[in-house]
Amino acid sequence: MEVIVTSSPAHLAGLGADAVLEAMGRRARPTLGLATGSSPRGIYAELGRRVREGEASLARVRAFLLDEYVGLGEDHPQRYRNVIARDLLDHVDIDPGRVRGPDGLADDIEAECVAYEQAITRAGGIDLQILGIGSDGHIAFNEPGSSLASRTRIKTLTRQTRQDNARFFGDDVEAVPVHCLTQGIATIMAAGHLLLVTTGRAKAEAVHQLVEGPISAMWPATALQWHPHVTVLVDEAACARLQLAPYFVDTFEHKPDWQGF
Ligand code: GLP
Repeated sequence: MEVIVTSSPAHLAGLGADAVLEAMGRRARPTLGLATGSSPRGIYAELGRRVREGEASLARVRAFLLDEYVGLGEDHPQRYRNVIARDLLDHVDIDPGRVRGPDGLADDIEAECVAYEQAITRAGGIDLQILGIGSDGHIAFNEPGSSLASRTRIKTLTRQTRQDNARFFGDDVEAVPVHCLTQGIATIMAAGHLLLVTTGRAKAEAVHQLVEGPISAMWPATALQWHPHVTVLVDEAACARLQLAPYFVDTFEHKPDWQGF
């Protein structure tokens, strides 16, 4: 696991955009896994800037979302499909018709989850998956107790996650849906490269568990310790509990130029 302690939001966004473009450049028809939430926003803005200024193109990219709320109407501003349109798709050259998320309005939820897994497989798998992390260590919406072998399915959100996300629903925790569809941990683990991004003191315990904790369904992100290619982009505040932080700083300072992500 490579942990990079970034020096500013711009530094984090630049490295994140570099990692995305590097992974997307490796295949003729690359596939990008998209996360919603506040953490990846700077990376999305930087990708938008590079595409707008002609420095990069994502025109060949197909994309899959990590998760979706169940039951939010087509036009609801917090439906993740709409969030990702605002945060990324409106600013880059990805064809919106080649972006798919689990459909939280499907009549047959179980069939939708199976179809979603099949669509990812048909696309040849996900080359790079962007991830955030919840304060309780969830990735996508795999809450504590999630099977580390799980695939796309319905989950019930914890009170903690609904409280954390209430800020997007006018601070009304009751307005946050109770259910979601989410890629499972095994779905996420099948991606070629995982890019986890997070900032702020509120995530410090989750980052400590992710990097240094024992692998446990109680902290679902710890499953990433088994993945051979993980990059974690954090700020200093998110590293407050990280025993290995000085080692990671030293490692990044001495990273060979040829190495890439
Ligand atoms: C939500 C999303 C996760 C995301 C998490 C953290 O629960 N389903 O995919 O990682 O929030 O969000 P943020 O980046 O806003 O801290």
